[in-house]
Amino acid sequence: MTALRDADIDPVAKDLRGQLTDLNGCSKDLPSRYSAISIFDNWVSRLPIEGRTAGQMPLFCKSEDLRPSYCVDVFGSLQEFDVLELGSFEGGHSYQLEKSNVRSLTCIESNPQSFLKSLIIKEAMHMRASFLFGDFLQYLAQCKKTFDLIFASGVLYHMEDPLNLLHLIAQHTDRIFLWTLYNSETVASSTPVFKTRVLGGYSCRYFRYDYNNENSGRIYSGNDSYCCRMTRDDILVDRL
Ligand SMILES: C[S@@+](CC[C@H](N)C(=O)[O-])C[C@H]1O[C@@H](n2cnc3c(N)ncnc32)[C@H](O)[C@@H]1O
Repeated sequence: MTALRDADIDPVAKDLRGQLTDLNGCSKDLPSRYSAISIFDNWVSRLPIEGRTAGQMPLFCKSEDLRPSYCVDVFGSLQEFDVLELGSFEGGHSYQLEKSNVRSLTCIESNPQSFLKSLIIKEAMHMRASFLFGDFLQYLAQCKKTFDLIFASGVLYHMEDPLNLLHLIAQHTDRIFLWTLYNSETVASSTPVFKTRVLGGYSCRYFRYDYNNENSGRIYSGNDSYCCRMTRDDILVDRL
């Protein structure tokens, strides 16, 4: 057998070989269920693991971030619930939802770094949840399943077409948890209307917000270069 020469290897394979032999970042630490946390040094969430300093946001903490437990307060036990979480970020709310003993939990996240962090959390915290990498709009548009609850925290106001997200959610569940920013009527009255969106016979105003890519929070916002905000009344109208 003759040895392969560099010239015989196609450029993509050569690139891959380069990555595989790059020893930067290889760990010499004691392996443990928590050790992969140190792969990232930019965690936003405070992690529920003693001795692990990460970020400051208490997304995993039931007593400080009440959003997941609010669902139990409103809907009662989630034990029989198949739950879909949109924009699961680093897995903090996913962790809390799973602690509420949901029957199943599917979490969708489009940011590769946040998604990989969720997998690290899943392993570290022995979670059952299924974390999927991709665009939840595509998922909702194509998936035929229905869910007992869709948990949508911090995502509506990052949409280019928020009414479309509400419309898609309504096709998959009768219960939604929605936490979102909105434009107050005071702000709306002094902001130019970007467009009037009409969907299913319902129309509402969109107010455009352009992202600043230099902003550190940009990695956990939306997938598009801008988003559209709605008013509270337009979000809550009972007509979708
Ligand atoms: C502001 S963060 C909210 C994170 C968390 N749900 C919370 O309430 O703290 C928005 C998250 O949704 C994700 N996201 C935004 N648009 C998405 C999309 N179309 N599909 C999947 N994930 C998306 C972002 O990457 C980010 O992690």
